[in-house]
Amino acid sequence: MTTTQTRPVALVTGASRGIGRAIALRLAATHDLVLVARSADKLTAVGRACEAVGATVQTMALNLRSVAAVGALADLHVDVLVNNAGVAVLKPFLEMTAEEWDRQVDVNVNALYHVTRAVLPGMVQRGRGHVCIIGSTAGRNTFVGGTCYTGTKHFVMGFAESLMLEVRDAGIGVSVVTPGSVATELFPEGTNTAWMLEPENVADAVAFAVTAPPHMLVHRLEVRPLSPKRPRSSF
Ligand SMILES: NC(=O)c1ccc[n+]([C@@H]2O[C@H](COP(=O)([O-])OP(=O)(O)OC[C@H]3O[C@@H](n4cnc5c(N)ncnc54)[C@H](OP(=O)(O)O)[C@@H]3O)[C@@H](O)[C@H]2O)c1
Repeated sequence: MTTTQTRPVALVTGASRGIGRAIALRLAATHDLVLVARSADKLTAVGRACEAVGATVQTMALNLRSVAAVGALADLHVDVLVNNAGVAVLKPFLEMTAEEWDRQVDVNVNALYHVTRAVLPGMVQRGRGHVCIIGSTAGRNTFVGGTCYTGTKHFVMGFAESLMLEVRDAGIGVSVVTPGSVATELFPEGTNTAWMLEPENVADAVAFAVTAPPHMLVHRLEVRPLSPKRPRSSF
């Protein structure tokens, strides 16, 4: 007699590149995946790479700023939600346009509500699930040019801890992974990223949080580059 082994399903936002892509590839060994971002071609490529390591993959090319489009996520079975998509426009407040402000707030803050609101009821109904959010060290630091970005990442910390307290008794874990600088396209072209964390380092932290034993909740996990960057073998 054969048994069908079903894998948990992880939904990763911002999976088309950078940290989200690395998270998708890291979870592909153990999870089936729903990958969300706007860039359909890039999502397809990431999906193929995830399938190659055993995941069943559904890609959904949608703009997280569209409340109607995000509503479609409510039809999915999701065991692990990784709210990763984010936007950073780092510039002095008086130089920031209203569009740049709204874009950051829509993706970094409002999409957290809409995506989590779509997916969480199913988890509550099943009495299990995990919501992981990619925050930032900018969620407890400040810097010149960071009025909006640091503000949105401070929001993430309050949102994550409050949600954790609300849903842990329903069997649902909430984690926030807060990286320092990571070498991705979040930074403008020409930025020296050599010293930064790799996206895979953040993906390892996410995997640690979402695969912890059922009675153990990793709520906050901060990962930073160790400078100078050096191979582990140097210890
Ligand atoms: N890089 C760092 O140093 C760093 C440090 C700490 C925290 N973080 C956080 O890590 C997360 C990922 O950042 P990253 O560095 O990987 O940045 P990235 O390379 O710029 O990737 C951002 C991702 O978000 C998606 N996205 C942006 N706007 C979207 C929208 N309107 N609708 C749907 N998807 C959208 C992008 O996909 P499409 O363009 O295809 O839509 C892309 O997949 C963010 O929350 C960021 O704040 C980054």
